[in-house]
Amino acid sequence: MAESTENTFPWRGKTLAYREAGQGTPLLFLHAFPLSSRMWDGQLAAFSATHRCLALDFAGFGGSASAVTAGEISRMEDLADQARTLLDHAAAERAVVCGLSMGGYAALAFAAAAPERLAGLILADTRAGADNEEGRKGRLGMAERVSKEGTGFLAEAMVPKLLGATTRAERPQVVSWVSQEIAAATPEGVAAAQRGMAERPDRFAILAKLTVPTLALAGEEDELTPPDESRRMAAAVAASNLVILPHAGHLSNLETPEAWNGAVARFLREM
Ligand code: MLT
Repeated sequence: MAESTENTFPWRGKTLAYREAGQGTPLLFLHAFPLSSRMWDGQLAAFSATHRCLALDFAGFGGSASAVTAGEISRMEDLADQARTLLDHAAAERAVVCGLSMGGYAALAFAAAAPERLAGLILADTRAGADNEEGRKGRLGMAERVSKEGTGFLAEAMVPKLLGATTRAERPQVVSWVSQEIAAATPEGVAAAQRGMAERPDRFAILAKLTVPTLALAGEEDELTPPDESRRMAAAVAASNLVILPHAGHLSNLETPEAWNGAVARFLREM
């Protein structure tokens, strides 16, 4: 297992952070909301034996927290551009891009903007559809609330949705880790990402054009982006694989890491 290093790169006059470990075909990890590249520590440990793993902190989160100021909007196209700029910085022409939830929205925006940079795509616990009006309102409501009150209320509000029933009942260390990570998110980063996610378009047309091997995977207990969303995405892609992980919720890589890593390792071997 290779140690991961923490590095930075410039993006539109700002400084963004990422972690890197291992050598081989680049494997780029894009994190969920409102977390950071730290959610991929277990994957960097596992996949650095076979791949050059890069894990980006999107502007507004983790080591890139200060790259977003009050009132900004982090559109998924911006997150995708951050990912592409990281690949440029790392001199990585193509990468397998793996995004979970918001990271998946960004991965789909990346596939739309720079399909030639994709070697493969892993869409975990995410969806290709846009939000409905109620969903958009909820996001803008949260953006407003964190801007006024800070992020103190977020962990309690989000943990029951982010983690599956089995994890909430049986994996207290995951519950406490995720709660701490949410508490570390900044109001500026959270508000900007919520405004950006509210604006994201439907991406099914992009899935239909994909020619690279694609894996859609989801926790069986995911209530935020239920497994049917992964089934719909897999059905829309020509070269697709579908995995539903038992006893995992929305943050499936953190909840059942061995099964998650096993499914991804199989996909990477066979692609
Ligand atoms: C995430 O895990 O990234 C979020 O649940 C995404 C979302 O709010 O749609």
